[in-house]
Amino acid sequence: MRILSGIQPSGALHLGNYFGMMKPAIELQEKCEAFYFIANYHSMTSLFDPAERRKNTADVALDFLACGIDTKKTVFFRQSDVPEVTELTWLLSTMTPMGLLERAHSYKDKIAKGIAASHGLFAYPVLMAADILIYDSNVVPVGRDQKQHVEMTRDIAIKFNEQYGQTFVIPEPQIREEVAVVPGTDGQKMSKSYGNTIEIFGDEKVLRKKVMGIKMDSRTPQEPKPDADKNYAIQLLKLVAPPDVARDFENRLRAGGLGYGNLKKALFEHYWNYFADARKKRAELVTNPDYVNQVLADGAVKARTLAQTVLKRARKASGLE
Ligand code: ADP
Ligand code: TRP
Repeated sequence: MRILSGIQPSGALHLGNYFGMMKPAIELQEKCEAFYFIANYHSMTSLFDPAERRKNTADVALDFLACGIDTKKTVFFRQSDVPEVTELTWLLSTMTPMGLLERAHSYKDKIAKGIAASHGLFAYPVLMAADILIYDSNVVPVGRDQKQHVEMTRDIAIKFNEQYGQTFVIPEPQIREEVAVVPGTDGQKMSKSYGNTIEIFGDEKVLRKKVMGIKMDSRTPQEPKPDADKNYAIQLLKLVAPPDVARDFENRLRAGGLGYGNLKKALFEHYWNYFADARKKRAELVTNPDYVNQVLADGAVKARTLAQTVLKRARKASGLE
């Protein structure tokens, strides 16, 4: 069984990315063959500064490696090192109904946020389908917001298989319900585009300020809070603290007597501690760019070899060869 997932290099990675996508992906590498890539082609639909793309790509590579990608078990690469994926995008686009793309939530959301409605942005799900299908992927671990894209991939693959004969493996999305949506500091889904993120790595002072700034209501500390499980700091604490510790804070909040400031202080300490090893590892990796580049180059060779095989299959099936 092969799993695959990608992440756009569109800014520093945050707890939503980590718990929604990276952690499940890293755990899965123990059980099956894993392919993870940095979706720099996709980032071209919303980020237009080359220096920023280069820097973000390098940062995502460091973040992933620091968080525990095992390069002996996992093929880790940059999307653009496998240009075959753009050819497959063309083949798939001829099997993609306009209506399917018009229904994409992610496209509508991005337009609503003011991202320019380019053809690339509209065709984003077709490139994503090519990413998934070109590696014969079985399982795609993603956050809930990406589920529709994986479903579209299935539709496109089924249509291609029906038209040209069995060519592609039909993938399944994998979404962990307990972390399907990590809340940001304002309680909305944590997302770079909402400015409500807590990053995995970064300056301690800045991050402490972000945690202390998590939005709370104006009830007094003494007041019992029967809705303690809805508190954003409690929800985040459940991700970074041992279960009994998180449960204890939740109970204290429910009973009344626990101030929000103390809760947030505890959250910061657990969060900071949770990533202590990764932070150390990242600091080491920063000093060794040759190693990181070699990992990506090795990943690209492995990924490209497989991509060429699958693309050839699709070219043959469709009568290009
Ligand atoms: P952002 O919303 O910050 O731009 P991306 O869309 O680049 O994040 O998401 C990259 C990956 O991280 C995807 O698999 C996505 O589902 C997951 N992810 C992002 N934010 C969250 C969140 N708040 N909760 C759960 N998963 C998330
Ligand atoms: N669209 C995904 C996101 O924004 C990134 C991505 C690109 C991806 N290609 C993929 C995820 C293939 C999984 C599989 O998060």
